Amino acid sequence: MAIHPPENRLWWNEPVARGEVVWIGIAFLWGVFMFLFMIWWHFTGSQNLSNEAYRIDPAVFAERTELAAEPYIVGEEGETGIPVVHPPPGSDLYMYARLWEWWPVLELERGQSYRLHLSSLDWQHGFSLQPVNINVQVHPGYELVMTLAPDRTGEFSVVCNEYCGIGHHTMVGRIRVVEPGQGGS
Ligand code: CUA
Repeated sequence: MAIHPPENRLWWNEPVARGEVVWIGIAFLWGVFMFLFMIWWHFTGSQNLSNEAYRIDPAVFAERTELAAEPYIVGEEGETGIPVVHPPPGSDLYMYARLWEWWPVLELERGQSYRLHLSSLDWQHGFSLQPVNINVQVHPGYELVMTLAPDRTGEFSVVCNEYCGIGHHTMVGRIRVVEPGQGGS
């Protein structure tokens, strides 16, 4: 406790105990290991998709998303009323996050490769695709583009995993993957 001035004015320059040097060394090496692991995991893990990022005005992104969805709306989601969109196989997909929804619901075909454009209209949200556990941070003002090639059919949830206020826990979107040539219901 620094009630009295230290006796030795160079108190911070004492020789460091051997045990402490060892721990500093271990912590440093662990940091280096974790840093390299990050790079390794980028190539071998499947959790974080490689993406491109572009600056974009949220209003422009909203407009693009709505224009891209409009011709391919095939229905709407029961509880939420959010449109279900079945874009042409292999096309560009647009989805936006906003308080507290993912818009629209996408219906994709298995075995096709899509370019997913993702952005937020307001706050930071987290795109967590479950149960496959793909995670992407979604920021307003940035458009992320990544390749999505669903290899199995089913119903996937887009769970927001960045706390974004009172409705955060209700912010769940959908991506549905159907057999080629099916869907559109
Ligand atoms: Cu959006 Cu949490």
